[in-house]
Amino acid sequence: MKVLVLHGPNLARLGARDPAHYGRRTLAEIDNLVQSRGAELGLQVECFQCNSEGGLIDYLELEAQSASGIVINPGALTHYGLSLRDALESIDLPIIEVHLSNIYARETFRHRSVIAPVATGQISGFGWRSYLAALELMAQLLGDEQPSVTER
Ligand code: DQA
Repeated sequence: MKVLVLHGPNLARLGARDPAHYGRRTLAEIDNLVQSRGAELGLQVECFQCNSEGGLIDYLELEAQSASGIVINPGALTHYGLSLRDALESIDLPIIEVHLSNIYARETFRHRSVIAPVATGQISGFGWRSYLAALELMAQLLGDEQPSVTER
């Protein structure tokens, strides 16, 4: 089963960008960790980063059809990316929203996610481990035959 791991604007600069909030691992390092853990979980992980909302939507249009789940760190689009929100809403797959930092412990504008209402759930504040936690949960969701998360 294929899981898409998407990273939004400015996440290509992880490692150099604001390490107090985002840690010192580069995006390539995080993608490697995610891919290795995915392989252990029996998932084929495809990683993609884009600085534009349209680029993320174009990628989803092409790739979501052949995927079983989506893990996404929308970056700042989390807080205002309504086109991305609408694209995700139209995709009938489990979607896990991920943040390296705890967005609720930061500036007020980061407290609102327009993505969260169309995601299956959200993980925020565990650094690069947020991605691994999302992948673990995704593996469980995809391995589970029950239709509703709340019944599990
Ligand atoms: C982020 C949090 C966002 O508020 C910010 O704009 C980012 C990264 C995170 O992973 O903590 O770019 O999504």
